[in-house]
Amino acid sequence: MRILLGVSGGIAAYKAVLLLRLLREQGHAVRVVPTAAALRFVGAPTFEALSGEPVSTEVFDDVPGVQHVGLGQEADLVVVAPATADLLARAAAGRADDLLTSTLLVARCPVVMAPAMHTEMWQHPATRANVETLRGRGVHVIEPASGRLTGADTGAGRLPEPEDIARAALEAAAVGADASVRHDLAGRHVVVSGGGTREPIDPVRFIGNRSSGRQGVALAQAAAARGAQVTLVAANLAADLTAPLVAAGVSVRAVGSTAELREAVRSAAESADAVVMAAAVADFRPSAPPRAKIKKVAGSSPAPIELVENPDILAELAAHRLRADQVVVGFAAETGGDGTSVLEHGRAKARRKGADLLAVNAVGENLGFGTDVNDVTVLDAHGETVAAVAGSKREVADGLWDAVAKILTDM
Ligand code: CTP
Repeated sequence: MRILLGVSGGIAAYKAVLLLRLLREQGHAVRVVPTAAALRFVGAPTFEALSGEPVSTEVFDDVPGVQHVGLGQEADLVVVAPATADLLARAAAGRADDLLTSTLLVARCPVVMAPAMHTEMWQHPATRANVETLRGRGVHVIEPASGRLTGADTGAGRLPEPEDIARAALEAAAVGADASVRHDLAGRHVVVSGGGTREPIDPVRFIGNRSSGRQGVALAQAAAARGAQVTLVAANLAADLTAPLVAAGVSVRAVGSTAELREAVRSAAESADAVVMAAAVADFRPSAPPRAKIKKVAGSSPAPIELVENPDILAELAAHRLRADQVVVGFAAETGGDGTSVLEHGRAKARRKGADLLAVNAVGENLGFGTDVNDVTVLDAHGETVAAVAGSKREVADGLWDAVAKILTDM
């Protein structure tokens, strides 16, 4: 693959050297286009020696070669690491005042940007707006990592590790190369809940469920690949499941109980075009968990745990819309039984919940939970079948986003 590595002027520019090495070792041809400020941190000879290609920063370098057009046209992938606040602003404004920004205007291949800056700059409304603009145009803006910054301070804004940037960039390129992958969620904000809630019995015990969270992760991944800005509300998800999502630009909010999940989903959903409730939410919680661990008393039977009902988050979102044009989607894990089939249970639930779509799948010991395959029927609010998708959780996720994207375009 022909990769164009843009480097802008931040202290993290030294990590671009490691990224360059990594991409070269993986067999890619890499042309480095630094900004003039980047060359104050890392010298051109370093990039030239490691890439084996010349380095220029200005459109006036090699004028007969019309580099400012050619480089962008030839690239299969553009990665900008680090992307400073200034670079994001210039790219969002469509400026073409140096070779890197000119190239960004010409490139039609996947573009991945890995921002790095101080926390205050990253959180400034101007930077937030620039990131949103770029994401709306289909640029993959990776979330910066949290941790040690230039000085003694720590916070969000650190450049992710070169391995994580390389992985996210190559995944974006693979998706971009697959003509069947649509970019139909660009400019949309979607919220996905995944995992399973835990309701405390006391400070050390909880009532939980067997949800692995893999369907929620697949939904978040698929939506990000289709250009959406994604918030994943992750109920007790393993860190190794969410780390690649963070690197791919998904905003992950970790929660534990149903009350926390409800709060996080509702606050993120205020700006969302679609909300997909894939989390397995506990219907009941212990009414008054004690502050101290419950002790075993020899010879006496344990006190019963009194349960109270949790709010139904999905039904609330469907009945009292936070936004008039928001698509609300639920998942129903059913086992069938009582002489009623999985689908009949699903149809009744679709009518009861009032969500625009309900994805119904059969679960049991060896189906659905914890496995990598699903068999899902998508119903509308009347219980009518809209689509049927079988396959990996990622395929199911894409099938569901197809249905969501259709509703969004028809609105
Ligand atoms: N859900 C929710 N809040 C709850 C319970 C469930 O938002 N308190 C959501 C789930 O995230 C899922 C959908 O509702 O999207 C269906 O969950 P499920 O547990 O199958 O539905 P229940 O209403 O709990 O029905 P059942 O009686 O089958 O448990």
